[in-house]
Amino acid sequence: MSYEIAVIEGDGIGHEVVPAAIDVLDALDVAFEFVEAEAGDATKEETGEALPRATYNLAADADATLFGAAGETAADVILPLREAVGSFVNVRPAKAYPGVDAVRPETDVVFLRENTEGVYAGHEDRLSDDLSTLTRVVTSSASRELAEFACEFVEDGRGPTDDAEEGFTVAHKANVMRETDGRFREEMFAVAEERGVDADEELMDAFATKLPLDPTQYGVVVCPNLAGDVLSDLAAGLVGGLGLLPSANIGHDNALFEPVHGTAPDIAGEGVANPTAAILSAAMLVEFLGHVEEGKQVRDAVESVLSDGPRTGDLGGDATTDEVTAAVVDRL
Ligand code: NAI
Ligand code: MG
Repeated sequence: MSYEIAVIEGDGIGHEVVPAAIDVLDALDVAFEFVEAEAGDATKEETGEALPRATYNLAADADATLFGAAGETAADVILPLREAVGSFVNVRPAKAYPGVDAVRPETDVVFLRENTEGVYAGHEDRLSDDLSTLTRVVTSSASRELAEFACEFVEDGRGPTDDAEEGFTVAHKANVMRETDGRFREEMFAVAEERGVDADEELMDAFATKLPLDPTQYGVVVCPNLAGDVLSDLAAGLVGGLGLLPSANIGHDNALFEPVHGTAPDIAGEGVANPTAAILSAAMLVEFLGHVEEGKQVRDAVESVLSDGPRTGDLGGDATTDEVTAAVVDRL
């Protein structure tokens, strides 16, 4: 059997790092059928639409999607694509690797960010010359879905430590937003208790201070949408660069994987982009399809290359995207 993977390079260095990730997937003992589709700024120029229906449908029907990045049209591409795959959680690991100059080399945390509601649910209005409002949406159903995912994630040992006893931390602001974050928090703790998973909590502002001071206090961190967006970017800053950070938008039977970075217009077309974030996104894709061992092989190969080189310019080296990719494939 082979998996159908929708491949959307997008714009800029998407055309460089996505092919790198595919070279790595091709080196694994798993059968993939890659189907390419268009989206992004160039697609909008050509067709009038940043995300053509055919691309949306391909992502919706595939076993999983690998996406690069889109330029100015990023929101018009990524938000519908997350919907196409039915994603309810955004998984963002922030791990500092040996050999990489990180602000906090001991950082190893995974954010599980609610991916459908909160303040990003879109109920925003400009009501008058003076007044704009935003309605924040939190449902028990979406909160419980995230909590179930967090419990499974911890139980399966997919956190930074594979020790399920470590449980997860809920970062929220339920002391102020009593009804919305209050509901979110209640559901996190209720599900954790039902499943016998350990959960603790931090107010998100306190968390933003404590994480950079000592990231080793945290492992799996579960957040509402906006908090997860901001706090995971904060963690990204601790580990040494955008070129390293993968992410996964997970749904029930479909998912989309993408590097956290954008199109890097300053280096696009030069063949020097760091493929690590895209390759680690591919590792998450492989794991999502159930090939946990192969996912680990990819991560080990990446870790070995980061540690010994070759390295791209963003990490102080002078290697090309292709040279780094070949080194990862070679380690596999
Ligand atoms: P960016 O992530 O594209 O670049 C920020 C800086 O990091 C640049 O100096 C870039 O060269 C460097 N960088 C990023 N990825 C790298 C890699 N793999 N290897 C080496 N260096 C790398 O963010 P920026 O400049 O804010 O946005 C550029 C464009 O990308 C914008 O049009 C923005 O809308 C879009 N964007 C798209 C995203 C997406 O599709 N998910 C996410 C973020 C931005
Ligand atoms: Mg963000």
